[in-house]
Amino acid sequence: MNKLLTYFIFISLICSSCGSDHTLSSPNGELQISTYTDENGQLLYSVLFDGKSYIKPSKLGFEFANADDMMNGFEIISSKKETIIQNYEMQWGLNQFISSKHNQLSLHLKHIESGRLIDVIFRAADDGFAFRYVIPKQKEKELIVSNEHSEFNFDEDPMSYWIPGDWEIYEHLYNKTRTSEINAFSKANHPNLAQTHIVENSVATPVTFIFDDGTHLSLHEAALVNYSGMTLKKTGETSFVSSLTGRADGNKATIPTPFKTPWRMGIIGKKATDLLSSNLMYDLNEPNELGDIRDWFTPHKYIGIWWEMHMGKSTWDYGMTQDMGTWTDSGNAHGQHGATNKNTKKYIDFAAKHGFDGVLVEGWNTGWEYWIGFEDREGVFDFVTSYPDYDIEMLQEYAKSKGVSLVMHHETSAAPRTYDKQMDKAYALMQSLDIHVVKSGYVGPLIPKGEYHHGQWMVNHYNNAVQKAANYQVAVNTHEPIKGTGLERTWPNWITREGARGQEFNAWSIEGGNSVDHLATMAFTRFLSGPMDYTPGLVKLETKLGPNSDNKARSTIAQQLGQYVVIPSPIQMACDLPENYEQHLDWLQFIKDVAVDWEQSIPLQGEVGDYVVWAKTPKENENWYLGAVNDENPKDLEIDLSFLDKNKSYTMTIYRDSKDAHWNTNPYAIEIENKIIKQKDTLKVYLASGGGFGAIIKKIK
Ligand code: NOJ
Ligand code: CA
Repeated sequence: MNKLLTYFIFISLICSSCGSDHTLSSPNGELQISTYTDENGQLLYSVLFDGKSYIKPSKLGFEFANADDMMNGFEIISSKKETIIQNYEMQWGLNQFISSKHNQLSLHLKHIESGRLIDVIFRAADDGFAFRYVIPKQKEKELIVSNEHSEFNFDEDPMSYWIPGDWEIYEHLYNKTRTSEINAFSKANHPNLAQTHIVENSVATPVTFIFDDGTHLSLHEAALVNYSGMTLKKTGETSFVSSLTGRADGNKATIPTPFKTPWRMGIIGKKATDLLSSNLMYDLNEPNELGDIRDWFTPHKYIGIWWEMHMGKSTWDYGMTQDMGTWTDSGNAHGQHGATNKNTKKYIDFAAKHGFDGVLVEGWNTGWEYWIGFEDREGVFDFVTSYPDYDIEMLQEYAKSKGVSLVMHHETSAAPRTYDKQMDKAYALMQSLDIHVVKSGYVGPLIPKGEYHHGQWMVNHYNNAVQKAANYQVAVNTHEPIKGTGLERTWPNWITREGARGQEFNAWSIEGGNSVDHLATMAFTRFLSGPMDYTPGLVKLETKLGPNSDNKARSTIAQQLGQYVVIPSPIQMACDLPENYEQHLDWLQFIKDVAVDWEQSIPLQGEVGDYVVWAKTPKENENWYLGAVNDENPKDLEIDLSFLDKNKSYTMTIYRDSKDAHWNTNPYAIEIENKIIKQKDTLKVYLASGGGFGAIIKKIK
């Protein structure tokens, strides 16, 4: 396959000003979008798939605080249909080369009385639909959006897999209910969330639905730039309207004109795995603006001084005092600080010994004494000054001498203005030390008050941080982020993010850990929005923390390994403590061997919230890596290996659940087996309750 950086877009005009033909079909004809204006001059659309209606007529429009609404009184003055073909290369991720063909309909609408113009662009693809608003230059320099009004009205009451449309965080457990039974308010004020703000009965995207005939639909947005994150608010039993994250003045966004909104999109397919093979979100984003970043960012695995803090073994803070913005060592060091020279060297040595490229060190810089629990957190964190027991220059030199690099950590405690002020200096320090990855964090209720993590102001902060970081050859892993909308196609240094309940909740959450089906659900919801820094790889599952001192990861060991293949991310942590890995070098071997960056990824089997099996082949060799995660119900799988080359033999090392494995009663029961397989074979694997597997398949030359 041609591995050169290729990109082109081909646009062919089918017709322009097509008059009354306002229906658009996907290239294979299975998906149809119909659009029309009703007797009030209100634009509506509907979506048919395989001849059946899934989105019934749904209104589109805007409400503005400083201009007439764009709802009623419009006529379609012209329209244009085009076919858009793209072939592009992703710098890292699930699939290196992506090809797509979309049919596009542009509707030019005019408000009959005022003459105001707006375009709505629709895309029909074989794997889904999308639309966006394009607002041309208006007499107002800026428009204040009091809300966008994009409806998604269903014909039925599909099963839905959702988290609440919280304006501050996505770290909720997933819920499975009929659409009519969604109740976001029931998720309010979760005690483990340092920030949470649920104001209406809405859900976050991606949100996934299964209709009774088995059709799967996942609604989301793509290319979220200079706008507020969208939630979907219930307007009836089975209907939603876009509802943007708000701000203190009650409005939702201020947009310049001309302006293009993010795309509103739905992936649609006949089976669950169709959702996973879609690249629609990336197709809808702009091409790479940064060029090739692979000479300074290489996908990799990392370890870190991290889990030990979540386990309560050490602390982020050192015990200093702050006076007028200056941190001083008042001799109050409590001796529990995790980010010490000695401890960091221990991790670097472990990384070097086992082939990990990065060592994340949290709690290295001053400010952690006041990082949470204070209203005013402005000026607390310093992103260039280390604690007295941490010598960053020496440690990075030590790391580099062993072929390892430190991974930078910037916790902002949701005081982004303090971070903004220091960003250039902080990224410049990284560049000078040859550190190319930062994990940033935004824990706490956002300050200034009245702005929220998912609002336009923060969308701009996150996007700006990533663009600025690129200037210093820094790749960003954002925690407490805005959701992924595919911008990593445009800015490939946005390598991963958190943006969902990660492994850390297993340590201390009030539920005793994440639910058994958490990953099997995220595989068909959260992971559709791109990479996640979940931090897999526990080999000691019990933390004994939490309200009943019995918290643990509700998975088997085989599932912890399978997570490396199932969870998308070009950087993957091995999150457990070095001393725990030392006890289980046979399990660690899989984590060492598994790849992180793929040429091609195939979702082999799965059902939303039940289980998923992926097969992925990396760029660097012709191996295949298989991984699965299961929910609480054991399964016997038969896996078709037709993706392998014909007439070749392969060796397979599989790490799978024993027959008596169970996440609760026998989670460590794992079997490691080596065997020879061929393309025509069927791989039989048992998935235990909370189980999974990981396998490495190598071609015999
Ligand atoms: C929350 C992040 O998700 C976690 O990984 C990190 O350790 C803490 N914030 C501190 O920054
Ligand atoms: Ca978090």
